[in-house]
Amino acid sequence: MKRQSRKLEHIKYSMLLDDGPAAAGFADFHLVHNCLPDLAWRDIDISTTVAGIPLAQPVIINAITGGADDVTLLNRDLAEFAKQTGIPMAVGSQYAAVENPAVAESYKIVRQVNPEGIVFANLGAHATPEAARYAVEMIDAQAIQIHLNSGQEIIMSEGDRDFSGYLSRIAAIVAQVDVPVIVKEVGCGIAREQAAALAGVGVKAIDVGGTGGTNFLAIEAARSKLPLDDDMMSWGIPTAISAMEVLSITNSSADVILSGGVRTPLDVVKALTIGGAAAGIAGPILKVLQCQGLEGAIHWYESFTTAVKRFMLLAGTRTVKELQSCPLVITGFSREWLEVRGID
Ligand code: FNR
Repeated sequence: MKRQSRKLEHIKYSMLLDDGPAAAGFADFHLVHNCLPDLAWRDIDISTTVAGIPLAQPVIINAITGGADDVTLLNRDLAEFAKQTGIPMAVGSQYAAVENPAVAESYKIVRQVNPEGIVFANLGAHATPEAARYAVEMIDAQAIQIHLNSGQEIIMSEGDRDFSGYLSRIAAIVAQVDVPVIVKEVGCGIAREQAAALAGVGVKAIDVGGTGGTNFLAIEAARSKLPLDDDMMSWGIPTAISAMEVLSITNSSADVILSGGVRTPLDVVKALTIGGAAAGIAGPILKVLQCQGLEGAIHWYESFTTAVKRFMLLAGTRTVKELQSCPLVITGFSREWLEVRGID
């Protein structure tokens, strides 16, 4: 199938399909109410830093699209939303433009609309350092995301079947690209063993991309009219647990971003309390923009941010740093998982 229609089908099915069925895991993580919050509303500061890049607030619009004429207007709207809200934005995989530079305009529009904003490039782990440099230059990106999506590829009839050598390719990209490299999964999560390997080659941030949100295995199965069994649909590490896995080894060397099923302001606050530097959201931003338009999306995000601050106040925390050292009670399946894996 042509890449152009595939991009449109990803958008179509991500709008149609529900999240999951596996959970993101946030339900097992509980903040503790602080009845003596020694702070004022005006003291609350939601700014953070990811991979050395200062962010005014802790949410990132995760990679969605680009690479086809039909999605240029969507990227324009996402960029306008990013500009007006101050949210960093990752473009979708730029491999289409590596293969055919004529479609680069569908990505460049993001930088044209938002010249001062924070924009992340995006490619798969099969990319060469030259391709990564081209992707960064194309949109003058402050960082590049390298996505890992073996689950999606093996369901896609036209997908990759050879996943060897990814770590050394990522190492080469880290060595030869001037901006920080963020490695992200797209829905199956990252375990501590692979996180250690990624941090070991100099990756500056790890976006865990766990289960519980947009499910690309389900999207690819729906596109190909393939039946997909429940075991396959639920494959992966829940986002909150994956973050605990990654933080257990990379606390000081790579920032952690939680994405995959981050849906509510409380999810974002939990993500930061777990130790994340930021949270990534893709599907819901696409849906709110498509269903409510730009003004509706901006209004939605203002309320979202206010609610993040409310939970920070109730936890008695002024800053993301304070939140990261706030008490957290872990129950149920997540607690069992972490015990079995020896993660505190
Ligand atoms: C995506 N995602 C994605 N990720 C990536 O690294 N490169 C890409 O090109 C795309 N393309 C893409 C298209 C569409 C339509 C969606 C909805 C998503 C995955 C995305 O960045 C994110 O990792 C997942 O969607 C999980 O986050 P949510 O949607 O659960 O918040």
